[in-house]
Amino acid sequence: MASVENYFCFYNVLEKFQAELEVHLNEKWSNVFILADELSFKHCFQYIEVVLKNSKLPFHCITIEPGENSKSFEKAIPIWSTLKNKKADRNSLMINLGGGVVTDLGGFIASAYMRGISFLNIPTTLLGMVDAALGGKNGIDFEGAKNILGFIKQPLSILSFSGFLKTLPKRQLLCGWAEMLKHGLIADQHHFEQLIKVNNPKQIDLSDWIKISANIKMKIVESDPDETANRKKLNFGHTIGHAIESYFNAKLGQDSVLHGEAVAAGIILASYISHQTCNLSDAEYQLIVNATDQYFDRLKITHADFDGIKSYLKYDKKSFAGANRMVLLQSIGHAIIDVHVTDELIQESLINYSKNV
Ligand SMILES: NC(=O)c1ccc[n+]([C@@H]2O[C@H](COP(=O)([O-])OP(=O)(O)OC[C@H]3O[C@@H](n4cnc5c(N)ncnc54)[C@H](O)[C@@H]3O)[C@@H](O)[C@H]2O)c1
Ligand SMILES: [Zn+2]
Repeated sequence: MASVENYFCFYNVLEKFQAELEVHLNEKWSNVFILADELSFKHCFQYIEVVLKNSKLPFHCITIEPGENSKSFEKAIPIWSTLKNKKADRNSLMINLGGGVVTDLGGFIASAYMRGISFLNIPTTLLGMVDAALGGKNGIDFEGAKNILGFIKQPLSILSFSGFLKTLPKRQLLCGWAEMLKHGLIADQHHFEQLIKVNNPKQIDLSDWIKISANIKMKIVESDPDETANRKKLNFGHTIGHAIESYFNAKLGQDSVLHGEAVAAGIILASYISHQTCNLSDAEYQLIVNATDQYFDRLKITHADFDGIKSYLKYDKKSFAGANRMVLLQSIGHAIIDVHVTDELIQESLINYSKNV
């Protein structure tokens, strides 16, 4: 894997972002395919169009509907057909311009096509910039289970431009914020403490925080690209979070609970379990709960939902031989992996969470 410096580039200045993109669009490629969703295309394509045109490379745009439902095998099939019909070959480049849905789906499509063609990620959401576009995990959802089909294949590079965030709605921005909080919680106490001083992330320049947060993720990925140990820490808040996300999206429809919103709930639940089993102190537990509640309304989880949520836990990749293995916190900034957690404790954490709805 390339070093963090070459691999993840973040720009505040449009011309610098475009100059870096220009470097990547060279004669080595036979043609270029841009995957975007309808909104990332509408708001962000204009910034890369001029560079594509100047490159003189043949290019073709493919758009998908926004939302998690597009991260599916059914949506991938016509895109593979387009690649084939438009003569994509081993020298084609795919550019994934969008949030986590686009970069996950695009990376999946590129990784499978002709046993893997090159792809460049241009994240246009905060969650994409600090998390989804980085690290080479390219998953799609299948039969109600999140990210259950996929590859680990690194993008050529990740190019981020802060200007993309101007059009991002606050609800979506906060989803990225949840992942940034997670990065602080698992690996960098100072980062967490700085983030929670921010009242409204929509109103400030997030550039410095984005770079720090993305670097935390990249350092962890670099230390363990295949997720045998350290990388599992990035799943903090995701074991129950994914189950909540899948359960509510099946029950109430697509994107009724967004990924980052489910992660925020997952952070509270995993912190409760950490407090009960891993000596996470009362003071730190309360700080995490209050900080998370500061940005996110509690999801309306009632007793009637518990069994449904728990039924999705069995799909989780970290559930091993029927046991729940979770990432928990010993203290803010220090996560431990593969902790065995009983169904009873998960139930207790859900009861505790729902008391505050
Ligand atoms: N691969 C990984 O390591 C990884 C890590 C975290 C999350 N994910 C995945 O990422 C997905 C969530 O990503 P997300 O939060 O970016 O959601 P998303 O891709 O659905 O984007 C959120 C919304 O913002 C819109 N949008 C995108 N850019 C915009 C812009 N600049 N202006 C206005 N609107 C814009 C999109 O059209 C969409 O409606 C989930 O599927 C999750 O599983 C993957
Ligand atoms: Zn996530």
